[in-house]
Amino acid sequence: MSAPNKTSNSAPNAAHSGTFLIGGDLPVHRLGYGTMRLVGEGAWGEPADPQEAKRVLRRAVELGVTLIDTADAYGPEIAERLIGEALAPYPPGLVIATKGGITRQGPAKTEYVGRAGYLIQCVEMSLRRLRLERIELYQLHRFDPRTPLEESLGALKQLQDQGKIRHIGLSEVTPAQIEEAEKIVPIVTVQNRYSLADRRHEETLNYCERRGIGFLPWYPMAAGKLLQPDRPEAETLRSLAAAAPSATPAQLALAWLLHRSPVMLPIPGTSKLAHLEENIAAATLKLS
Ligand SMILES: NC(=O)c1ccc[n+]([C@@H]2O[C@H](COP(=O)([O-])OP(=O)(O)OC[C@H]3O[C@@H](n4cnc5c(N)ncnc54)[C@H](OP(=O)(O)O)[C@@H]3O)[C@@H](O)[C@H]2O)c1
Repeated sequence: MSAPNKTSNSAPNAAHSGTFLIGGDLPVHRLGYGTMRLVGEGAWGEPADPQEAKRVLRRAVELGVTLIDTADAYGPEIAERLIGEALAPYPPGLVIATKGGITRQGPAKTEYVGRAGYLIQCVEMSLRRLRLERIELYQLHRFDPRTPLEESLGALKQLQDQGKIRHIGLSEVTPAQIEEAEKIVPIVTVQNRYSLADRRHEETLNYCERRGIGFLPWYPMAAGKLLQPDRPEAETLRSLAAAAPSATPAQLALAWLLHRSPVMLPIPGTSKLAHLEENIAAATLKLS
């Protein structure tokens, strides 16, 4: 990978990252924003500063973000509630992508539940908290090993048929699991853990690229570890940063993802306005 050059005279705007059509008909700017960091530690509880959380959400929209990722499990419920309070009624073109299927029992304590009745309630409650009549992208947060996939995705298909969900995505899946799911319902996005420091899902990314399925890398900055110069994860970034002193490590990590694949839709998370602005400026970096 070679050093980036900053595109001249362009104010930070997610639009500079280009546009991707989710499911072939739902346009989003490729650089989005993830809301897990808006809530308490371990995705549990209220934010330390709820007003800052709402400012971050509004600023993301001002900076051209049109893909905001969330989940009922963030808080739980709190990230969706903040989004509804800060942003509804939503400007045209803003896609709030949420997820269901993970329950939370405490900070960083989770269990997967994919029963039909539960997922139907999840969608109904997300609609209420987000103040939406339809969720443009609903992602099954995890496959529940105790529930047949036909039951989980059958429930989401039923909600899609009722007009409560537009498109369906998956999270933490292999190509074989995507194919299994597609026997039940069309799949338009996949959200797997992926970053410059964590390439375990390379095969799934390549599969998504071949199929035109959007790929939302979670932990795009390795949960912040990529940005800490003393961590082994940051080694490649360190050398890049030396060649491009005007770009920050966060911007390099995100620019690399955008460069890696045209189906890549990074959703970096932050609770801070200054970090949000820095991250969105990555859309104007071009890697040669
Ligand atoms: N599908 C899944 O299973 C799954 C799992 C986890 C996350 N997600 C989604 O993926 C999104 C992204 O993941 P993530 O937020 O966990 O990890 P991330 O984006 O890799 O990193 C976020 C961390 O980096 C810090 N950070 C962000 N920008 C920074 C900057 N410019 N300079 C210094 N530090 C910075 C944040 O702290 P500050 O708050 O201090 O900025 C936070 O601690 C989540 O928000 C969520 O929407 C999905």
